[in-house]
Amino acid sequence: MASQMTEISVDCHDPERLSSFWCAVLGWVVVHQESGLVEIAESPPDDAALLEAVRSGPVVPTMFFAQVPEDKVAKNRVHFDVSPVDVSQQEEVERILALGATRADVGQTGGESWTVLADPRGQRVLRAAQPGSGPLLAVSGLALDLPIETERLILRPHRMDDLDDLERFHGDPDVVRYVPWPVRDRAATEETLRVKLTQTELVAHGQWLVLAVEVRATGRVVGEVLLKWASDRQGEVGFAFARDAQGQGYAAEAASAILRLAFDDLGFHRVTAVVVEGNAPSARLLTRLGFRQEARFVDGVHFKGAWVTQLVFALLDEEWRVR
Ligand SMILES: CC(C)(COP(=O)(O)OP(=O)(O)OC[C@H]1O[C@@H](n2cnc3c(N)ncnc32)[C@H](O)[C@@H]1OP(=O)(O)O)[C@@H](O)C(=O)NCCC(=O)NCCS
Repeated sequence: MASQMTEISVDCHDPERLSSFWCAVLGWVVVHQESGLVEIAESPPDDAALLEAVRSGPVVPTMFFAQVPEDKVAKNRVHFDVSPVDVSQQEEVERILALGATRADVGQTGGESWTVLADPRGQRVLRAAQPGSGPLLAVSGLALDLPIETERLILRPHRMDDLDDLERFHGDPDVVRYVPWPVRDRAATEETLRVKLTQTELVAHGQWLVLAVEVRATGRVVGEVLLKWASDRQGEVGFAFARDAQGQGYAAEAASAILRLAFDDLGFHRVTAVVVEGNAPSARLLTRLGFRQEARFVDGVHFKGAWVTQLVFALLDEEWRVR
């Protein structure tokens, strides 16, 4: 006998709101509630009865909503399919929209038998199909679409075997002069690589997505691009490339790809970049990409033992689209 699933846990901002939405959609009830936690189920489970039911056959899992501080940004990894019981698809879609759901675009053509909805905080995507023709509502879990491929490059999460390539530029004083890292030896590069292995998602404000930039023709990692989810629909980019890989347009190609991700896929409104004055190649690259210099903070930060002036560059989604 294998195990059976008894609970589905959903991290969210507002457990009360989301659980009452799902109670209304499914006709379920709240069976347990405490600070930041709400459990809903088809019917109130009694522990002994639940154990008996689990032993005798499949059970309908309860849903457990747990409050977490971060907002949603990455595409969902899970979705729920639900079907109407005794009404048409259109009626059920209208009812669920009235409960606070919104219509969602996941690339559907309009010819599908299902409808896509997002729940009240866009936490999950719901697809509504015709009764009897498959699922009505699907809550969809979509990750960042990685790797990103461009003409000459692959932007992908780091791997442990990138260490040799990373050591080449993390240990180069010329490359790190204007970035906030020290010159790193192999051990320090390995330590930072272990952190990079985890920087593959954007699920909370302040988090950085860090991607290795691999040249398709050689398989060598020549640099890295970074995208921070700074705040609601705001991002920040960063980049660093090995000295012998500069001056070939690789940074521009990789940065354009990360901006496409930010504006086109994640729907960001504004992306910034902060440059230490004197870092001319970086300022040139940002200008070529369409960024405007917005601010100049004189002695804005104490950086590597001295006060330095910072230049803040920014690009808006509408500027990106008409560049
Ligand atoms: C900032 C940095 C990424 C810019 O790299 P870069 O190689 O100069 O930028 P690009 O990839 O856009 O390459 C552009 C240059 O390549 C040339 N080039 C050659 N072939 C090219 C091609 N096929 N396509 C585009 N440009 C090409 C361009 O003419 C341009 O030269 P120019 O800057 O002398 O005018 C790089 O200097 C770097 O890694 N610096 C160290 C880390 C750092 O400071 N990061 C920024 C922190 S804010």
